[in-house]
Amino acid sequence: MFLCCWLALGALIPATFSINPGVKVELTRKGLEYGRQLGMVSIQRKLKTIKIPDFSGSQSVAHIGKVRYSLSDMQIDNVQLPQSAVDLVPGNGVRLSISNAFISLHGNWRVKYLKIIKDSGSFDLKVSGLTITTTIATKSDETGRPVVSSVNCSATVNSATIKFHHGASWLYNLFKKFISKALRKAMEKKGEFYNIGKHQEPPFSPTAFSMPPEINNMLYIGLSAFTTNSAAFVYNKAGALSLYITDDMLPKSSPIRLNTRTFGIVIPQIAKLFPGLMMKLLVKTVKTPIITFEPSNVTVQATASVTAYAIQPNGTLTPLFVLNLDSSVSAQVFVSGMRLAGTVTLNNMELTLGTSYVGEFQVKALYSIFQMVLKVVVLPKLNAQLAKGYPLPTLGKMKLVNTQLQVLKDYMLIGTDVQFKD
Ligand SMILES: *[C@@H]1O[C@H](CO)[C@@H](O)[C@H](O)[C@H]1NC(C)=O
Ligand SMILES: *[C@@H]1O[C@H](CO)[C@@H](O)[C@H](O)[C@H]1NC(C)=O
Ligand SMILES: *[C@@H]1O[C@H](CO)[C@@H](O)[C@H](O)[C@H]1NC(C)=O
Repeated sequence: MFLCCWLALGALIPATFSINPGVKVELTRKGLEYGRQLGMVSIQRKLKTIKIPDFSGSQSVAHIGKVRYSLSDMQIDNVQLPQSAVDLVPGNGVRLSISNAFISLHGNWRVKYLKIIKDSGSFDLKVSGLTITTTIATKSDETGRPVVSSVNCSATVNSATIKFHHGASWLYNLFKKFISKALRKAMEKKGEFYNIGKHQEPPFSPTAFSMPPEINNMLYIGLSAFTTNSAAFVYNKAGALSLYITDDMLPKSSPIRLNTRTFGIVIPQIAKLFPGLMMKLLVKTVKTPIITFEPSNVTVQATASVTAYAIQPNGTLTPLFVLNLDSSVSAQVFVSGMRLAGTVTLNNMELTLGTSYVGEFQVKALYSIFQMVLKVVVLPKLNAQLAKGYPLPTLGKMKLVNTQLQVLKDYMLIGTDVQFKD
């Protein structure tokens, strides 16, 4: 029946689902209560704007014969929803119950009988003791993600009374009972089963993780290592993890410069073969960085190649050597606005020789140069990128407040209260 569908769709669904692979969202009792309050405000507002279809029929009346009637232009003018409750039902559904509701509406009536006699006026209908129960059920689809499987709704009406204005009183007295009954029936008609879409995304296999029973915040969002690793994968595929480093990116005060003179101190062949040239480095991840979550510790293992070039006077880049750089960084992760952001600091790094075009040399001797390059150029660049953040699942115009983030084994848990803006 008409009341049910938007009731179910209007307020509650957005607060229950918005799922990415490897992301779990759990609503607590506190969250449900907040959802109920919001839902009731929106239901009350929507009820007043609802369009009620015109209603017509005919009825045989003793001594008169067939009387045709119609009710039109019905408009809800008062809604009272004194009692409501939201519950989680077994099988991961959400149930909204409204009881003792009162709705009144105003409309126009029109009758025609004995072929030529017409009469019309207005009426007021009061529906009281209205009980509406809506259940939004969820199930897992083939990829393990929750989808809305059905919206089921029932309504019962305790009493519906109608008062006609204008017209012949014998007539509306005759009709009052009949029309009240018909309207009541129409309102109680069963809600249907709805199949609300289905996620058509490719299958995935996030690491299973279960969220601890938390209750202090309204909403808990779990992000598995899978999610952050797939974000890293996407960044890596997009080529976002490669960086050219030139001398102007080093601090002016640094005695270490990207030129063949500085590198010539450690590798004399460079100074000899390419005197007086500036240099350029290309740092490129060769594998997708691996992100691991341990309690209170996010670690990123990255393997990169570093190619050093001499810049010839005509602009040609002449490769000097390629190093393998394995590094481990620790990440501090936090929620900023609706995004998950972070900063990283270097734990340790290892350098090994990939290829040399300038003969043999001691890689160890380059360690402090590259540590400086990582600390003053690469990590600040990465941090600027990380500060932009990774979008959290958003549920409409939601603002997060009282947000806390914990790093646990294999996942991050964000507990938050939410505020919805109109
Ligand atoms: C509606 O939901 C209730 C509670 O889950 C259930 O008992 C009832 O059978 C459902 N009705 C339909 C038509 O599925
Ligand atoms: C986090 O773990 C890594 C790897 O086990 C370790 O190197 C690092 O020191 C740890 N950081 C903190 C803050 O415990
Ligand atoms: C640029 O200069 C280098 C070194 O002198 C030379 O080997 C190369 O052929 C030059 N390239 C072009 C395009 O002129």
